[in-house]
Amino acid sequence: MSTASNSASETARTTSSSVDAVGRPMPVFPAPRPLAGVGPARIIAMCNQKGGVGKTTTTINVAAALAEYGRKVLIVDFDPQGAASVGLGVPVHELDHTIYDLLMAARPDTRGTIFHTAVDGLDILPANIDLSAAEVQLVGEVARESVLARVLREVADDYDVILIDCQPSLGLLTVNALTAAHGVLIPLECEFFALRGVALLVETIEKVRDRLNPRLTVDGIVATMYDARTLHAREVVERVYQAFGDTLMHTVITRTVKFPDASVAAEPITSYAPNHAGAQAYRQLARELIARGDSA
Ligand SMILES: Nc1ncnc2c1ncn2[C@@H]1O[C@H](COP(=O)(O)OP(=O)(O)OP(=O)(O)O)[C@@H](O)[C@H]1O
Ligand SMILES: [Mg+2]
Repeated sequence: MSTASNSASETARTTSSSVDAVGRPMPVFPAPRPLAGVGPARIIAMCNQKGGVGKTTTTINVAAALAEYGRKVLIVDFDPQGAASVGLGVPVHELDHTIYDLLMAARPDTRGTIFHTAVDGLDILPANIDLSAAEVQLVGEVARESVLARVLREVADDYDVILIDCQPSLGLLTVNALTAAHGVLIPLECEFFALRGVALLVETIEKVRDRLNPRLTVDGIVATMYDARTLHAREVVERVYQAFGDTLMHTVITRTVKFPDASVAAEPITSYAPNHAGAQAYRQLARELIARGDSA
């Protein structure tokens, strides 16, 4: 748990007098207003084919923060590793039904597969290793790229936001996620090779937009595992800003061991260490997404 002075300094950093990691004035993102009703959901794919960049951590914690702000949120675990499911305490090896069964079913029972997490307002469609067979099995299907979109249609009105945690690949499952989504959020780890592969990711997003899903937009790029003490991390964020401009979110996520700790505890950081700077950062990212009009 962090101290009161920690959270006070975090609050100070998010006020209008400060600048972000690339020197832009840091806006104040207001607490989101309550919604009159639920849905229809904005569907956001958390996507980067590079491994270990913070997709799952960002999915879990943005989702938990949005739920704290009163949004109804569904996570779709779309990685056979099941990290989002495990990270939210789902007993993945004991599940009768997972997202895999929904993809394969002639009449998918999406509502019946949803798991309610310990976080109020946050549900998940869990995954386990079964999902690794889906990529091959879907290849012969009619409209194989829109199977997930069909699965989610049944529950789109039950949620304000649906976040899809993609696996580190640009294969058919990720193309399904991009076809189902309204927007893409791209986490980038602040390290030297961060931008490698991003051109291919953007190309894939553009192809899906042209051929399958004209509404698809890039909602933002979020810098993760940022260490303000190193020149290197600051240079990486600067390069991302030069390449992508204001697609780069103002909010950056700092590197801290609290994230792996929270995963071990199978909780979002927002409940594991609610006053920690990492929890505050993900709340700010959630508010920034809402302020951009990218979420409900
Ligand atoms: N800001 C952070 N500071 C420190 N560690 C972090 C941070 N964000 C994520 N991690 C840790 O880094 C590892 C990779 O993060 P995560 O699983 O979120 O990435 P991923 O992109 O989903 O990975 P994969 O491509 O394997 O699905 C995890 O152990 C996670 O706890
Ligand atoms: Mg992951």
